[in-house]
Amino acid sequence: MEKKIKAVINGIGGYVPEAILDNEELSRMVDTSDEWIMSRIGIKTRHVLGERRGSAYMGIKAVQDLIDKTSLDTKDVDLLICCTTTPSFVFPSNASLICGALGITSAYGYDLAAACSGFIFGLDTCATMIESGKYKKIILVCSEKMTAITNYEDRNTCPLFGDGAAAVLIEPTTEDLGVVDSILRIDGLGKENLHLKAGGSLHPASIETVTNKEHYIYQEGQAVFKRAVSDMSRVAEEILVKNKMTSEDVTWLVPHQANIRIIDAVAKRINLSKEKTLVNIEHYGNTSAASIPLCLWDYESRLRKGDVIVLAAFGAGFAWGSMIIKWGYNIEDTKKN
Ligand code: UT7
Repeated sequence: MEKKIKAVINGIGGYVPEAILDNEELSRMVDTSDEWIMSRIGIKTRHVLGERRGSAYMGIKAVQDLIDKTSLDTKDVDLLICCTTTPSFVFPSNASLICGALGITSAYGYDLAAACSGFIFGLDTCATMIESGKYKKIILVCSEKMTAITNYEDRNTCPLFGDGAAAVLIEPTTEDLGVVDSILRIDGLGKENLHLKAGGSLHPASIETVTNKEHYIYQEGQAVFKRAVSDMSRVAEEILVKNKMTSEDVTWLVPHQANIRIIDAVAKRINLSKEKTLVNIEHYGNTSAASIPLCLWDYESRLRKGDVIVLAAFGAGFAWGSMIIKWGYNIEDTKKN
C-alpha cells in the first residue's frame, strides 16, 4: 500500500531589521514606562525597518536566509506564498516582488492576508497543496512591517508592535512527520474591536483620513485580550482531544506572540509548563503573521526531529486557530550546519 504524503517543514530562515526601539525610547515618545510595558505586555524591544523599505524587503532577506541554509535551488520552487497584512504595495504582491528579487522563475505565488493567524492559515494551505501531490517545494514566508501602521502618539497600541520576517520550506514526506492536523476559524465579529479604518477600497487615502490618523491600527485591547485567551485555549484543547493527545504528548507550544499574559494563560489552560512554551515576545513584540515562524527560527537549534509542536494564533477578523505539527529535522543534519 502506498504511504500517505504529508507536508513537512524542512528548513527555516528569518530576518529582523537592525534598528531597535526600546521601552526607554518609547517612554520619551508617549506617557508610558518600561515597568508598565513589561508587566502588562512583556515586551522590552522591537525591531524597526525604517521609512525607506517595505515588508517585501524583509521577506526577501528571510527567504535568502532559508535558501542559504537549505541550499535550495530556486528553480525547484513551485509556489511561494507570502502572509502579510502590511504588503509593500497593494499590488503587485509581496510574493511577486520576492520571487523577482531572488530569481524564483518557475513558480507562481500570491499574498495571503490573515493578520496574526497568517502563518497557520498559510501552513494549512501549503500542507493541502503538498498532500495533493501536485507541489514538491513550497516557500511560506511571513513578513510584516507593523511599525508602518502603528501610531506613535497612541500609548495603547505603540508598545505592542514590531517588524520582522521568517520563511519556511515545505516539502512532501512519507515519514511520520509534518503537519498532523489543523482547526482554523474566522468569524468577522472582531471588526469593531480591531481594524485599520482607512486605506482600503471603502475609505481610500484622502487628506481627511490622514488628518484623522485613520491609517493606524485601531484596537480595543481588553475585548481582544479576552477573546484571544478564550479562543486560542479552546481551539488548542480541541485539537489535542481530536487527535487523542494530552499535554504529556506535546513537546512545545508555540503561540502567537502578542502579550506574555495571553501566552501564559493559554499555556496554563492546556496544562503546559513554561519550559515547554516557546517565547520571544520580549525581543520582537507582536510581528503579526511573522511571530510564530520567528519563534521557530529563534529556537530552531532546540527543536528535534519528531518533536510534537502545538501552534496557536489569534488576530484581526477575528481569525484564529491551532495546528499540530511534527518537526522535520535536527539542525545538525541540514546541509550547511
Ligand atoms: O495580535 C493581535 C491581537 N492583539 C492582542 O492580542 C492584544 C490584546 N490586548 C492586550 O494585549 C492588552 O489589552 C493591552 C496590552 C493592549 C492593554 O493592556 P490592558 O491591561 O488591557 O490595559 P487597558 O487597556 O485596560 O488599560 C489599563 C490602564 C488604562 O488606564 P486607566 O484608564 O485605568 O487609568 C490605560 O490608559 O493602562 C493605561 N495604559 C497605559 N499606561 C501606561 C494603556 N496603555 C498604557 C501604556 N503605558 N503604554
